[in-house]
Amino acid sequence: MMTNIRLSNPSDLKSLLVIENNTNPSPWTEKQMQSSFDVGHHSFLCEDNNENVIGFVIYVAVEQEAHLLNIAVDNNYQKKGIGSILVNHLKKQVQAMGINLITLEVRVSNTNAISFYKKHDFIEDAIRANYYSKPKPEDALLMSARL
Ligand SMILES: CC(C)(COP(=O)(O)OP(=O)(O)OC[C@H]1O[C@@H](n2cnc3c(N)ncnc32)[C@H](O)[C@@H]1OP(=O)(O)O)[C@@H](O)C(=O)NCCC(=O)NCCS
Repeated sequence: MMTNIRLSNPSDLKSLLVIENNTNPSPWTEKQMQSSFDVGHHSFLCEDNNENVIGFVIYVAVEQEAHLLNIAVDNNYQKKGIGSILVNHLKKQVQAMGINLITLEVRVSNTNAISFYKKHDFIEDAIRANYYSKPKPEDALLMSARL
């Protein structure tokens, strides 16, 4: 499949929310997604050759660390390497900014994502108890990758 990576912009909000709502058990609201743009989080997306958005990344860079805030691939396009394209792009982009550490949190029940991150050289750092409150309390696994 032909894919293209480009920066997200506020007119992509609706497309990102469709994917967000279909993949996240506690999806960001439109307001949260909008304010993420407003405060200047970094975001890029992957589109297919018909310019349909099929995945996205949102992260924040603070000093020497990039924190992955959100990554999602449309349900119909998962397990086809799109997430890997996104993570590899993230690594390249933050490295170009002089950053060599990426951190993230993931639900302990999200074994697909955890194995995905391990495949991309993230390691398990800690458990944060009850980090998530919705849809029910759940621990977060903190992971990181050194570049
Ligand atoms: C995690 C996610 C971004 C990975 O993207 P992807 O395009 O599916 O990933 P890739 O195709 O590049 O990589 C596939 C690997 O991811 C993991 N994986 C992803 N989806 C999986 C599934 N449904 N079942 C099992 N493993 C899965 C496996 O390790 C898989 O490796 P394998 O094919 O050798 O088994 C994607 O599954 C997703 O959007 N999930 C929902 C949102 C989410 O959980 N985001 C992370 C929040 S912290």
